[in-house]
Amino acid sequence: MKLILAIESTCDETAAAVIADDLRVLGSSVASQDQLHQRFSGVVPEIAARAHVERILPVIDEALRRAGCGLGDLAAVAVATTPGLANSLLVGLSAAKAIAIALRIPLLGINHLHAHVYACRLAAGRDVFPCVGLIISGGHTHLFHYRDPLDARLLGGTIDDAAGEAFDKVATLLGLGYPGGPALSWLAESGDPKALAFPRSFIHEPRLDFSFSGLKTAVRYAISPQGRPVRLASELSLSERADIAASFELAVAETIAIKATQAIEQTGVSRLCVGGGVAANRVVRAELELRAKEKGFELLLAPRELCTDNAVMGAIAWEKYWRGQFDELEIDILPGLLR
Ligand code: KG4
Ligand code: ZN
Repeated sequence: MKLILAIESTCDETAAAVIADDLRVLGSSVASQDQLHQRFSGVVPEIAARAHVERILPVIDEALRRAGCGLGDLAAVAVATTPGLANSLLVGLSAAKAIAIALRIPLLGINHLHAHVYACRLAAGRDVFPCVGLIISGGHTHLFHYRDPLDARLLGGTIDDAAGEAFDKVATLLGLGYPGGPALSWLAESGDPKALAFPRSFIHEPRLDFSFSGLKTAVRYAISPQGRPVRLASELSLSERADIAASFELAVAETIAIKATQAIEQTGVSRLCVGGGVAANRVVRAELELRAKEKGFELLLAPRELCTDNAVMGAIAWEKYWRGQFDELEIDILPGLLR
């Protein structure tokens, strides 16, 4: 049995996992930084990078301990090199390079977005390619056509805010904490999703892009209508806030499900794999399930615990290993958004 150590540090989770060549996960460890970023209502890149430096070695140690193995048992080391926050990515890549050099084992750079989709492959326990992959996270809302796990063609993506970013910003407008997705979803449970008719961008257009900034602005005006004295979310009743949260959540979920269904129809691929933090959302999952049933395509949703950032999905590195696609020690990070 061969083992890969996968490292993840693209944003504000420091994570490591040990995955065997039969794709069994032997050990996994995730250190979240939510508490560090809470008072800023968003991730502060410099704080994230410094926290990664402090946590990366203990997190790797913990993953190895849970797997019951040592560094000497590793066949390769994998690390997410793109996309993400530059200094956060650098911490993971530096750790991976050090391990590759010290142990003289291959280094495998992985794409964090494709890893999110691979979480569906892991959970299914069988081949799920070709498929349409939908990544809905804090930084991305993107649709890809996957011929295989490593061969992806971009179909479209957000032209402004990502779905998770919209959740986080609207949560801030509603006076909720960070990360906003889970908090907003909790508030929405007691609200009426039909109370407010929020916009659903591009749903009547064939382009497979997303836009959530108009929706965010619509929420802002629902809280504090234009031409009237500024109103804070704290001046609204709990049920008014819950209605706004529920209506916003449904608008995001319907938009995502409609665009993903269009991608299925346009590509002629009959399988949709969904990953990323927002894929943990109850209403998003339900809307996707509804369309899959209606249109008769196969839907694979990443298990909730593998939706938000983790290193387990770094198992995609085995696909590169099996193809002999090892990386040079000179590889660099590729931060930034995919447009
Ligand atoms: O995939 P992820 O952990 O990090 C990135 O790669 O960006 O996604 C984090 C995002 C955050 O914006 C968070 O608010 C959102 O996922 N999120 C959710 C839920 N859980 C996490 N959004 C809506 N509903 C949820 N239950
Ligand atoms: Zn992610």
